[in-house]
Amino acid sequence: MQWWRDAVVYQIYVRSFADADGDGVGDLEGIRDRLGYLELLGVDAIWLTPFYTSPMADHGYDVADPRNVDPVFGDLAAFDRLVADAHDHGLRVTIDLVPNHTSSEHEWFRAALAAAPGSPERARYHFRRGRGPNGDQPPNNWQSVFGGPAWTRVQNPDGSPGEWYLHLFAPEQPDLNWTNPEVWDDLEKTLRFWLDRGVDGFRIDVAHGMSKPPDLPDARGDRAPSPDGERWAATVDAPDPRFDHDDVHAVHRMIRAVLDHYPGRLVVGEVWVGDSGRFCRYLRPDELHLGFDFRLVRAPFEATAIRTAIEQTLAAVADVGAPPAWTLSNHDVSRPVTRYGGGVEGHARARAMALVLLALPGVVYLYNGDELGLPDADLPDEVLQDPIWELSGHTRRGRDRCRVPIPWEGSAPGYGFTSGDPWLPMPPEYGKLVAAEQLEDTGSTLSLVRRAIELRKTHPGFTGSELEWFGAPEGCFAFRRVGTTLVCALNTSGETVPLPPGEAILASGPLPDGMLPPGTAAWLA
Ligand code: GLC
Repeated sequence: MQWWRDAVVYQIYVRSFADADGDGVGDLEGIRDRLGYLELLGVDAIWLTPFYTSPMADHGYDVADPRNVDPVFGDLAAFDRLVADAHDHGLRVTIDLVPNHTSSEHEWFRAALAAAPGSPERARYHFRRGRGPNGDQPPNNWQSVFGGPAWTRVQNPDGSPGEWYLHLFAPEQPDLNWTNPEVWDDLEKTLRFWLDRGVDGFRIDVAHGMSKPPDLPDARGDRAPSPDGERWAATVDAPDPRFDHDDVHAVHRMIRAVLDHYPGRLVVGEVWVGDSGRFCRYLRPDELHLGFDFRLVRAPFEATAIRTAIEQTLAAVADVGAPPAWTLSNHDVSRPVTRYGGGVEGHARARAMALVLLALPGVVYLYNGDELGLPDADLPDEVLQDPIWELSGHTRRGRDRCRVPIPWEGSAPGYGFTSGDPWLPMPPEYGKLVAAEQLEDTGSTLSLVRRAIELRKTHPGFTGSELEWFGAPEGCFAFRRVGTTLVCALNTSGETVPLPPGEAILASGPLPDGMLPPGTAAWLA
């Protein structure tokens, strides 16, 4: 039963969603308290970012124990309560898994540090001798996605400099060696552990990572490390040896084989692979059900670019018969309001894009807070926590700006997120966007998104998986699902244009005299 084929999945960045115990950090009980909101919003499922035991060097993506809950988020009993209550609210629960790396505090990595070069303990990671006469150069030229070399040197027990280990992300996130059978067995154990607790699926972190070429060759010099931490890996003309190695598909086949014993469970991968031919390999019938396609995240607010992103995504998945998985943002990228220009204009454009997104066939992922039209927060240097800030030598501010807690209600800082001090400061601007007020206001972004989800579920125009495009003025487009009559029109130009024929059933902004103003989208039946 593929319940996800047209689902709307809501991504919860657990740290920032709702804090029940007042320590300023979101937690599982906080989510449980807000399930009514999610039911009202009309989403089908949630995706929880990592809540496992972690020293939080990368806010949970550095996992010290993948089969337990970090005390800051709750405990296993709280997790079980959350799953049970979510199911009672008609919501499925999917969770993040991080198989590319562990925390440096994971018992395996501690054992590796205590063991000798060449030992079985070290063989679960990528330890190598350094280059140069004293081994004081990293084993290859790979860069960490977060900045700086992807290698860190360890000390021998006697204090002398020892081997280097690989970390594609922070030094606190050593990469696992996926040629080691113990690593496979452990992931299988983790999958079953959570499946047996009733989760409805997984999101696989860095699903194009894991396997590495055996000789760990240098990256080609003409593929300069990108200054903005670009993860768009492995274009065909400039392959990136860090990502998208062919052997990773065997890992996905293992994951899928485990899931196939549990009917109705979903696996979606974070696949930053730009080449369609390589991307769709992750979605072959015995691999992932879904792969995030980040083309829409990268497209500017420009009709041709957006249309191209949509068409390329559809073409990529069509070959393998998988549904597309769309998203406008997540906890790693700038929020749509800000990306599309910020202010009143950015806000209008983000609303328009929400209608485009929710008109598309396949699975839609919504990042928490986007339904409120939250912009990125401007944060002062001294509060930044994303490891990118330090690792890039303060050249990249990182992702904290899109991770500021959700404003729920009230007019005092904390805004219902916490009774304590939020882990990142919430700007006064967020006080004007609190969920409680938006629920009461029919013109709010929250009401728009809620209505759009409702129509997506109930209107016959949202059936079928293919799109047909109509002629439209420059800077605009209009499409409908083949065989239906519901049209989605978008105007990214600077001019007001005539609407396509039909009756507007939902619009992201006013439609004066049957016209579609700049930065507006409408659904017409
Ligand atoms: C993924 C996550 C990101 C994390 C990284 C390392 O890209 O989305 O937040 O920092 O993996 O685990």
